[in-house]
Formats: sequence, C-alpha cells, structure tokens
Amino acid sequence: MIERPVARNGVSVVVPTLRESANLRRLAEAVRAALSGSGFEWELLLSDDDSQDGSEELVADLSRRLPIRLEIRRGQPRDLSLAVLDGIGLARFDRICVMDADLSHPPERIPDLVARLDGTCDLVVGSRYASGGGIEGHWSRYRRLNSRVATLLARPLVRCSDPLSGFFAVDRRALPSRGRLRPIGYKIGLELMVRGRLRVREVPFRFRDRSLGASKLNRREQLRFLVHLGRLYAFCFPTLLRVLSFGLVGASGLAVDTSFYYGLQRLGLSHLVARFLSFWPAVSWNWWWNRIATFRDRPAAPPGGQWIRFAASSIAGLLVNFGSYWFLTGFVGFFAEERLLALITGVLIGSLLNFGAANRYVYGAKGARTR
Ligand code: GDD
Ligand code: MN
Repeated sequence: MIERPVARNGVSVVVPTLRESANLRRLAEAVRAALSGSGFEWELLLSDDDSQDGSEELVADLSRRLPIRLEIRRGQPRDLSLAVLDGIGLARFDRICVMDADLSHPPERIPDLVARLDGTCDLVVGSRYASGGGIEGHWSRYRRLNSRVATLLARPLVRCSDPLSGFFAVDRRALPSRGRLRPIGYKIGLELMVRGRLRVREVPFRFRDRSLGASKLNRREQLRFLVHLGRLYAFCFPTLLRVLSFGLVGASGLAVDTSFYYGLQRLGLSHLVARFLSFWPAVSWNWWWNRIATFRDRPAAPPGGQWIRFAASSIAGLLVNFGSYWFLTGFVGFFAEERLLALITGVLIGSLLNFGAANRYVYGAKGARTR
C-alpha cells in the first residue's frame, strides 16, 4: 500500500462499530490498559456505520484524554468488512489490530498478536480453536454446531484453525490493493488471508460473550457468508468449480436429448432418426450454458464458429465414449463381466476429453478472471 512515514513501533486498533455506545468506554479503558506502557505507540480507531446512539459524543469526550477517534461512514453500504477496510485505510500505523467492540476479544492480548508480526508472517489470528484457546460462557448446542460447521466450510481455503475469527493483527503493507478484494459481510479476516495469500500465524485466545449491547449477526449475514464462501472457493479452486458446472450442464443436456428423442418419435419419426436429430438441440443447449455459465469469464467469441467447435468436440467425446466401452468390454476380462462399469468409465473418459477440449479449444483458455 501507500508508503508514508510512520512510527516504527505503533499499532492502530481498528474496531468496526454499530450501536456499541454501551461498550465504548470499557473498550477504550481496556485498550489503554493493554497498550500504555507496552512500548507501543497506539490509537483506537472506531469505524462506525452512523450508529446515532450517542457514540459520537462519548468518543469526543474520551478523546480529550485518550488517542481515540470515531470515523463515521455516511452514505455508504452498511457492512462490517467495508467498515474494517475503511478503518485500515485511515489508520496512522501500518500494524493494525482488528477486534470487536463488545469485549469478546480480550484487549490484553493485543500486544501478543502485534508482536508476532515480525516480518516472517503477515497476519496473526486470535484463534478460539487452537490449543489453549476456547469459548467462555454458555453457547447453546445449536450455536456451537453452527460455528463449527461454518469453520469447517472455510478450512479448505486457508491453513488456520479459526479462519472466521474477527480478532487479528495484520501488517497493512502486506495487503493486496482494494481492487483485488471483494469484501462482503462479517468475515473480512478470511477475505484478507485468502485473496492476499497471506502468511498466517495463530495465537490462542478465549472468546467471551458480550455482556452489553446486541449482536448484529443475523440470518441475512449468514446467507451472505455462504455467498462469500462461494466466491472464495471459485477463487481458490477455479478448475474444480468449472468441472462441476460442466458436469451439471452435461446432465441437463441429457434431459434435453431424451425429451427430443421421445418427442420426435411421437411425431412419427423412427427411433434412429429421432436419435440422430435429438443430438443437435442437446449440443446447442450445452454449448449455450457453458458459454454463459461454465466459461462466462472467457472473452466472448463469435457464436457460430464456437458452436461448430463445440459440436465437433462433443462428437469426438461421444466416439471416445463408445470406443472405450467397446474396448473395455471386448478386451478387458473384468469389464466383460461388469458392463455397466464399462459404460460409466466410457462416459467419464468421454466427458473429461470434452471438458479439456472445451477449456482449451472451444472457449479459449486465456481471459480475465472476474470472480
Ligand atoms: N461498522 C459496522 N457496520 N460495524 C458492524 C456492523 C456493520 O454493519 N455489524 C457489526 N458490526 C460490529 C459490531 O458493532 C461489533 O463491534 C463487531 O462488528 C462484531 O459484531 P457482533 O454483532 O458482535 O458479531 P458477533 O459477536 O456475532 O461475531 C463476532 O465473532 C465471530 C466469532 O469470532 C465477529 O467478530 C465475527 O466476525 C466472528 O466470526
Ligand atoms: Mn460480538
């Protein structure tokens, strides 16, 4: 990010806030207690979504004796991730500690987190699930399970025991530019770790439930989390996602194929003619859906030529499919007994060939990634 002269040993504590006035005094005191005398210069920066609950007046008062300020985001979408990124952008220091306002994250651990940003890692996560960490207070079975499942869903994206934690320290200079992020919802730490390909370290901590104010994590945020996950999977595993999409399109094409096959016979055509004709609407269907879904990020090619190439690769795939079946059942003892397996193997080999050809020759391998 931008180079500017900064104090070498400073930390900006960035806290997203939405109607947290009940917690701000205690938070400010606890952060001061943790950082004054720790050797760090510091500031507490609240990135507020126009709470209008007295936070502004309270912070004005606190700021007379503490390095604290409240930045109000007006006329912008209300979002925790966006608030955190804005706060990071406005911070005085390059080393940032992000935490919640409700004291769920213990301020006394801030120096531990920040001290581990020593140049060998870019982001230090406070982890509830690392050994020594944990959750205090009574979480219902449902809440525990919900948190566990969400965490497991995010695990393949990054090597971290608590990828959804909202308590972390990060070196701003290691972050990708804003244009390379697609922030949405609650999990800004996950977004930074994954898209920034950051080197991550963990520090265990004990999560406490908030005692004042209310959580803003609702159903809508949980749905947005699933959207966020989908985008990050597409970012991390683009080919896997394409293969799945291609497979789904292929399966739907089979339905088109059989519908025409039966429909045309109803109109009085013989089954062989119907079989020959039904192939073309199915191929066209597949070509179209792969164009607008599976390979939608590829540069648009003239449709005519692309359709011809797709149809040709489908025919090639079909021949390989039948050829594999013929070879396996005729020359491999095992498959002579297990013909259904031979059929399935043929379909798989043919489909893989189809995918490879579509990926390289039909829709072109180069192009901007937009997901
Ligand atoms: N500016 C802004 N805008 N702040 C927000 C918004 C928003 O739309 N929504 C929530 N916040 C602030 C809250 O005021 C609080 O300081 C912090 O973000 C976390 O919100 P909570 O509503 O207290 O979240 P939670 O306790 O359910 O979830 C927390 O813990 C989870 C488990 O560690 C968050 O830190 C999650 O990110 C985390 O996964
Ligand atoms: Mn909370």
